Amino acid sequence: MNSPSVLLGVAGGIAAYKSAELLRRLTETGHSVRVLPTASALEFVGAATFEALSGKPVHTGVFADVPSVPHVKLGQEADLVVVAPATADLMARAASGRADDLLTASLLTARCPVLFAPAMHTEMWEHPATRANVALLRSRGVVVMEPASGRLTGKDTGPGRLPDPAEIAEVARLLLERADALPQDLAGRRVVVSAGGTREALDPVRFLGNRSSGRQGYALARVAAQRCAAVTLVAAHTADLGDPAAVDVVRVGSALEMRDAMRAAGKGADAVVMAAAVADFRPVAAAGHKIKKDGSEPAPLALALNPDILAELVAAREPGQVVVGFAAETGDSSGGPLHHGRAKLARKGCDLLVVNAVGDGQAFEVADNAGWLLGADGSETELAIGSKALLASRVWDAVASRLA
Ligand code: CTP
Repeated sequence: MNSPSVLLGVAGGIAAYKSAELLRRLTETGHSVRVLPTASALEFVGAATFEALSGKPVHTGVFADVPSVPHVKLGQEADLVVVAPATADLMARAASGRADDLLTASLLTARCPVLFAPAMHTEMWEHPATRANVALLRSRGVVVMEPASGRLTGKDTGPGRLPDPAEIAEVARLLLERADALPQDLAGRRVVVSAGGTREALDPVRFLGNRSSGRQGYALARVAAQRCAAVTLVAAHTADLGDPAAVDVVRVGSALEMRDAMRAAGKGADAVVMAAAVADFRPVAAAGHKIKKDGSEPAPLALALNPDILAELVAAREPGQVVVGFAAETGDSSGGPLHHGRAKLARKGCDLLVVNAVGDGQAFEVADNAGWLLGADGSETELAIGSKALLASRVWDAVASRLA
């Protein structure tokens, strides 16, 4: 495949400095990126930085390099336009169809997916003018990410922070992978996702755990938030992953803590997704002090069965609620992963089950994923290899169609 051609628009806000990292991520993952800063973006980051990192010239106005008609051609030839940061002013200009610089002109000629990652002060984000512009842009199919909450310039905190560059890159890749745009079809819905691996304490320093990184669950939470759902992410132990923007994160340690958190968050939710790797067993008792070796044979480890949280969520399912499970299967002499997945769907009673083949470097601790999506209605969809965000978006497609 040719390297996808990405236009990276950078508007004039202090978060412009983070666009350099986004640019590096996009080029390192094989994208051909042309940076289109606004004139005010260049007050924050010099053109030389963007030129060096992209290997391409940087212009802001429509009168540079006139013979190649860049204000028309750049947009027409792009596979994706990402604007990060998108300021209130840039979104206002884009919403009203202005073409007073190279970036806004290119936005008018682009027919590819367009992604805006906003960054501004909370008051600006919440202002009715900005709300109306965001709604208008979204109604035209532009994906406007929800900003992150947290420390803004100075001492203020609140929604308006630029989402993490890794997160913007993930959504950008998703838009290139999905031929269609990312629908905003979970607006008004509340969803709950579990992620990561539980840790079952043996003593204050040791535990029984598993290799789950939490990446698939985080991708589910991120993609749901970007489809405008209100999202609670119940996170057990994960790799070092940043909190997804606009997601309420509840941290848990053990399976029993996860069960309590999922029960509480699941009440009244439209959809519940168990992507966590829950330990099936826990030590009967955790020692209150570090277990010491004393030269004798260690005592056998006594284990107790953990509750099956997914089965409990199915039993407590409210009318209309969609419950989704995951199954990581290696296959064995009795059948392959799909065979085991079908049996698990029937046993667990959930509405949808994502079956991943695992082992040999598949699924765990890697960026990509593949599998099958099985429905209680007998449907079976193959999920082609792609990013975990792509798989997440296919799961939400199926959930959204069941909620509709
Ligand atoms: N699960 C859960 N509670 C558990 C174990 C698993 O909620 N105690 C959920 C997982 O989050 C996942 C699904 O059940 O969504 C399937 O997990 P898996 O470990 O594959 O299923 P098990 O029932 O443990 O089956 P197996 O015998 O294959 O281990």
